Amino acid sequence: MHLLRVADLSSRDISRALDLSDAFKRHPPRSATLLHGAAVTLYFAKPSTRTRISFETAIHRLGGVPVTVGPNDLQMGRGESIEDTARVISRMSRAFVARTFADDELARFARAASIPVVNALTDGHHPCQAIADLLTIREKFGRTEGLSMAYVGAGNNVTHSLMEACALAGMELRVATPKAYAPHGTVVERAHALAKASGVKLLLTNDPAEAVDGVDAIYTDTWLSMGDPPAEREERIAILEPYQVNAALFAKAKPTAIFMHCLPAHRGEEVTAEVADSDRSVIFDQAENRLHTSLGILEMLVTHSFEGSGHQSVPGPANS
Ligand code: CP
Ligand code: NVA
Repeated sequence: MHLLRVADLSSRDISRALDLSDAFKRHPPRSATLLHGAAVTLYFAKPSTRTRISFETAIHRLGGVPVTVGPNDLQMGRGESIEDTARVISRMSRAFVARTFADDELARFARAASIPVVNALTDGHHPCQAIADLLTIREKFGRTEGLSMAYVGAGNNVTHSLMEACALAGMELRVATPKAYAPHGTVVERAHALAKASGVKLLLTNDPAEAVDGVDAIYTDTWLSMGDPPAEREERIAILEPYQVNAALFAKAKPTAIFMHCLPAHRGEEVTAEVADSDRSVIFDQAENRLHTSLGILEMLVTHSFEGSGHQSVPGPANS
């Protein structure tokens, strides 16, 4: 089984991954021999601080050896196919963790691989981040069910994964974006179906004030993602300016509400320093929880402990 998007998992998978991650947080070396010196290959086609460091550390803690490569290190840069690369890595590694641009590239890796493939961020999804976010919420409120979150800003990979994660974790989500940067239609459809099945609300709006009214958490992310054309930057800033999370917007949430951001943050753009650095901001707890949830995700995948949603985005040899 692969983890390419949150919707590959069931609600039960999510809560078991959170329990396991929480156990790793309390007792770090719990399963140090799981990987028995085996390699886990990490591939980053985009920069990374949290994801790379958390997975490399997690692999060490599980007794494995992280092998991190980029596009210029591999023969793929000279034309070797994704499929052959995936087959070769499968013969040498216990798992493959990859950050790519197009989701389709990662899907091709997964289809050809016979080891679990983990999405370390694509243009479309960031499942590992959303799982760490749920752990952070559960720590702060003691539960996820019945809570409400607003995502305010540009619709992107983080938004997509939160839409699926909130639905599976029993949380209401309200997403406020400008029309030009709304979440992707097919992901919205899937998230609506998941929310309906869980009996929770998912609202899409263009009005930040409507989204944040009385919520338990406000979340935002960069207005220009790594997969977006850098030339769009000025236009995006102009269109997204009314979506900044500032003290006035934060004040419309519950007085107990927390502020969340996957990082890296751009203070003065999607969030003010006043909110990002306030005592209700949990951004560094989210970052730390990337480590604990990387441990949980790897162990669940390598021990075949995820039951899956029954709708695996890319069935491949690893599932048969
Ligand atoms: N939040 C996150 O994925 O950060 P990195 O890009 O630093 O890995
Ligand atoms: N949406 C951002 C997330 C970075 C962790 C990006 O893709 O660049």
